[in-house]
Amino acid sequence: MRIVVLVSGTGSNLQSVIDAVKAGELDVEIAAVGADREGTYGVERSSEAGLETFVVNFNSFPTRDEWDAALTARVASYAPDVVVSSGFMRIVSADFIAAFHGKYLNTHPALLPAFPGAHGVRDAMAYGVKVTGCTVHWADAGVDTGPIIAQEAVTIEPGDTEESLHERIKVVERRLLVNTLAALAAV
Ligand code: GRF
Repeated sequence: MRIVVLVSGTGSNLQSVIDAVKAGELDVEIAAVGADREGTYGVERSSEAGLETFVVNFNSFPTRDEWDAALTARVASYAPDVVVSSGFMRIVSADFIAAFHGKYLNTHPALLPAFPGAHGVRDAMAYGVKVTGCTVHWADAGVDTGPIIAQEAVTIEPGDTEESLHERIKVVERRLLVNTLAALAAV
């Protein structure tokens, strides 16, 4: 199973995938890692791991549609079986979703359909829920919508900050992502 991973930030979820592949625990080929901006640690750590990387910089395109078309073409050039949005903070177009229909996997730091969007951890805390978690799902053209594959709960503890809670969620999220990819690769 060939995968392309898209990141916007530190890529710690991606790192868990890289580690699992290297350890022989996950039978996937990481064809490339791409970002929507320059200077992400996710791309840096991927190059250090010897992986193919690319940047389709959102700010270098006059319109969102042109950026989206360039991203779609670049990702398609790797002929991936699965495209993983792993902390990729851009909404892609319906054309991108159509190009990778049933292949675009997203991870989200909340129990969808609760708390979609860029601030899933903050929004769960602000609402006052006592349990949140993370979700791995097939992405469609909505914001954090699409068929759910796996979820796991994480308890919000007294004294949690957005950072401390997000870090605990990410510990679970990394495992959930690796396990989901392993299950898909085994099909
Ligand atoms: C993850 O919690 C992901 O779900 C969210 O942003 C975080 C990315 O973390 N959208 P990292 O870049 O993998 O460390």
